[in-house]
Amino acid sequence: DVDGSLRPKSFKEYIGQEKVKEKLSIFIQAAKNRGESLDHVLLYGPPGLGKTTLASIIANEMGAGLRITSGPAIERAGDLAAILTNLGENDVLFIDEIHRLNRSVEEVLYPAMEDYALDIIIGKGPSARSIRIDLPKFTLIGATTKAGMLTSPLRDRFGVILRLELYNVKELAYIVKRSAGILNVKIDEEGALEIARRSRGTPRIANRLLKRVRDYAEVKANGVIDHEVASRALDLLEVDKLGLDNIDRKMLLAIINKFGGGPVGLDTLAYSIGEENETIEDVYEPYLLQIGFINRTPRGRIATRTAYEHMGIPHPAE
Ligand code: ADE
Repeated sequence: DVDGSLRPKSFKEYIGQEKVKEKLSIFIQAAKNRGESLDHVLLYGPPGLGKTTLASIIANEMGAGLRITSGPAIERAGDLAAILTNLGENDVLFIDEIHRLNRSVEEVLYPAMEDYALDIIIGKGPSARSIRIDLPKFTLIGATTKAGMLTSPLRDRFGVILRLELYNVKELAYIVKRSAGILNVKIDEEGALEIARRSRGTPRIANRLLKRVRDYAEVKANGVIDHEVASRALDLLEVDKLGLDNIDRKMLLAIINKFGGGPVGLDTLAYSIGEENETIEDVYEPYLLQIGFINRTPRGRIATRTAYEHMGIPHPAE
C-alpha cells in the first residue's frame, strides 16, 4: 500500500472525524478495562475517508492483531471459516466492502458475530448433523459506502455503527501539512489550503494531489509548494477551484445539456457518460451533493443554480 507511510497509527495522529474518535476511544477503553474484545463496528461513508486507517488504529489501541480482507475476496463459506479459525483472542477482522459478501458467506458470519461460533453441517440427508466450533472472541469491523446496502440481519449484529463525514478544508489542510512533513516536502499555509480546497473533502485525494503538486514544484519551481505553485499545478491537473475533475464536469454538463437540468435517473445519467452507477453514487455524488451542485429527487438528479453558475451556463429560469 503506497499510502502506508502516510496513515496515522493512533487517534492522536488522526485528524478530523472528532465524534467518531470520541465514541471509539470510550468504547475501546471500556472494553480494555473489562478485558473483553470490542463490540463489532460498522463504518460507513464515501471512499477515501479513512475506514481502513481507523480499523488499524482500533487494533493498535486494543493491542490486538489485525486481519484485512474484503467482501468480494471471500468467495465461499469455507474461506471465511478459515479466516475466523485463524484469528487470535480479541483480534480485529476488517472486511472492506462488506455489502458485497454473498449470502452463504454472510450466514457463516451471523453465529460468528453473535456467539463466537461456527456451525458446520456434517453429512447429507437424514443423517446430517450440525456441530459447533468455538471461535476466539474477536471484533469484526465492516466498512461500506452505503449502510443501506447491508441486509438487516447483518446490520443488526453490529453494536457500534459510525458514519464518516467528508472533511472540511481546515482539517484537510492539516492532513496535507502532516503528509508533507512525512514526505519531506516544503509547503506553506496557503499552498496547503489550496490543495485542501481542491480535495473534495477526501484525505485520499488530498494526499494524491500533494504528491503530484510536489512533482510540479520540483520540476517547474524551486521545490517549495506555495499558493502560486499549488494553483498552477492543480490547474494543469485539470482539478478546478472547487476540486471538480473532468468526470464531475462531464456529469454536470450531461445533466444540464442533455437532460435539461434534470431530473434524470441514475441509470440514464451513468450510461450517458460511460460510468458505472456505483462510481457515480459512491465517488462523485457525495461531494456534489455536499457543495449543493446537485439534488436528488424521487424522479432523479437535478443540477442546481449554483452548478449552472460554476459551469458558466445561464440558468433556464433567467
Ligand atoms: N491521512 C489520511 N487521513 C488522515 C487523517 N484523518 N488524519 C491524518 N492523516 C491522514
